[in-house]
Amino acid sequence: MGVNFITEVKRTHSCGELTGKDVGKTVVLFGWVHNYRDHGGAVFIDLRDREGLTQVVFEPDSAPAAHQLAGSLRYEYCVGIRGKVVSRGRNVNPNLKTGEIEVKASELAVFNRSETPPFLIEERIDTAEDKRLAYRYLDLRRAPLQKTLITRSKMNAITRSHLVEQGFLELETPFMGKYTPGGARNFLVPSRLNPGKFYALAESPQLYKQLFMVAGYDRYFQIVKCFRDEDLRLDRQPEFTQIDVEMSFVAQDDVFAVVEGLLCRMWKELLGVGLPTPFPRMDFYESMAKYGNDKPDLRFGLEHVELTDLVKQHGGAGMMGDAVAQGGIVKAMVLPADKALSRAETDKLEEYVRGMGAKGLARAKVGEGGEWTQSPLAKTMSSELRAGINQRCGVKAGDLILFQFGPEATVQTVMANLRVHVAKKLKLIPGVGSGGVWKFLWVVDPPLFERDEESKTWVAAHHAFTRPHDADVPYLSSDPGRVKCHRYDVVLNGFEIGGGSIRLHDPKVQSEVFKALGIGEEEARNKFGFLLDALRFGAPPHGGIALGMDRLVMLLTGAESIREVIPFPKTQKGLDLMTGAPGEVDEKQLRDLHIRTTAAPSKA
Ligand code: AMO
Repeated sequence: MGVNFITEVKRTHSCGELTGKDVGKTVVLFGWVHNYRDHGGAVFIDLRDREGLTQVVFEPDSAPAAHQLAGSLRYEYCVGIRGKVVSRGRNVNPNLKTGEIEVKASELAVFNRSETPPFLIEERIDTAEDKRLAYRYLDLRRAPLQKTLITRSKMNAITRSHLVEQGFLELETPFMGKYTPGGARNFLVPSRLNPGKFYALAESPQLYKQLFMVAGYDRYFQIVKCFRDEDLRLDRQPEFTQIDVEMSFVAQDDVFAVVEGLLCRMWKELLGVGLPTPFPRMDFYESMAKYGNDKPDLRFGLEHVELTDLVKQHGGAGMMGDAVAQGGIVKAMVLPADKALSRAETDKLEEYVRGMGAKGLARAKVGEGGEWTQSPLAKTMSSELRAGINQRCGVKAGDLILFQFGPEATVQTVMANLRVHVAKKLKLIPGVGSGGVWKFLWVVDPPLFERDEESKTWVAAHHAFTRPHDADVPYLSSDPGRVKCHRYDVVLNGFEIGGGSIRLHDPKVQSEVFKALGIGEEEARNKFGFLLDALRFGAPPHGGIALGMDRLVMLLTGAESIREVIPFPKTQKGLDLMTGAPGEVDEKQLRDLHIRTTAAPSKA
């Protein structure tokens, strides 16, 4: 009779670990048939588990029963083998960690057969993502995803060990909480026990972690799921993970030091890369001016040039001047002569910016004497203004200046995206991975409020509990737009990987902030009553941050999208193609929840 694998004969090694040093050992391996080849005489398979591949050979003479059974093996059969490690001699495979050896099998057990998988379990496949997501458990067998998720697991372990060593407590907070308007759109959960009432799924543990500080727990962290019903993008999922941190008795620098320490450790232990600290810091307004947003990718130049004041100063200037007269802004970006794009390529750029709501993409080619060629703008512009623009842009003959003018928000978004788009086109962005370029940056001191153009009111740029700069407190009533605050974002290669703030713990300043936001006492009580109460009981000065774990994994592993680093992600439309969520539920379930849907039932 054959051997009793699993119950008696236990696995001795993974499929990624045997080398020349193990030759002569008897080993037991479990895994999946990655590949099989019948060479007339012997049958070869590559046996795979999450650690790698090992070649196993079944020979008719030495192990006739195993050899015969091996002939029936197909892709993805789940098997166990016992055998002897032998050298591959001259047939070493240098691309494989186990390439020096093979295992000559004496016994084989088929634990389970497999239907033919809908796609190959290979490193690189061109199967459509929808199909991969529908069979995610097979997709997850592929080496790149396994590598990513193993790295993700290590990032969790490093986070826990680093923060616990720094005196942090890992504490939990509820997912089901009270709905509070503002911030991201919440997912709602109907309460069966309280008809007509709803919990909101936490968009972050923000208020609870502040309450931990009030309660004296000082250094808190949590690796926590957050839920936001937002439109999804390459770097956004409806449920995502934060490394959430809050600390008492700290200034901004203390929070930065903890985060830098943690990120340095991840990069060192996982990529062998030493990150220089402290990370550079940039003022929010400088970031907006040079890059059009607050998450600049500093791996390449192509900085924006602000021209609004110049155009204003010189008057006229056709459409540019009109835009400024209507309260808009003017920005430019220079493509140097040695990175010239063809006319057709530049036309494509124009199409690209129109897709983002721009009216067009004005451009000027700089001639030998500084004159502008190929540009309708040239006619409407005084030579002084043209010279001023040339000088500020630092152009030389052959350079191409690209312009945007109009409402500030549009110009900034278009120019920020255009900068990255052009950099990709010109191949100015270096790769990532262990030899990669890592541009970490703190963006600091943004405004506390943003103007909501629709309602013509001030709204909190982040949340209403961010501490304003002491020097700006007098402007809370007179000039709210001018108030800067202790908020910070940490940025890596053009992605916001975390954000936080020093919190407002002074009830007097708090009420002034609410006043500036047009939030009355009663409304404030309704929204945040419990936090306002808590802040009155000796709340310590405190602050914190949350890092976006999924984005961190995506960047550290060089993954193309956030979906590649989440085991079971949702599609752009929020669907789980494997389970079919979200799904319909029956009438009785809805009745129990005191809910009636107005949506027509789907035809599916
Ligand atoms: P914030 O809203 O900036 O701050 O979120 C912190 C970080 O979480 C990541 N992130 C996301 N990742 C994937 N999908 C999403 N939909 C998504 N939304 C956000 C980003 C972001 O920088 N409570 C505050 C933190 C604090 O003030 O301490 C908060 O949640 O990387």
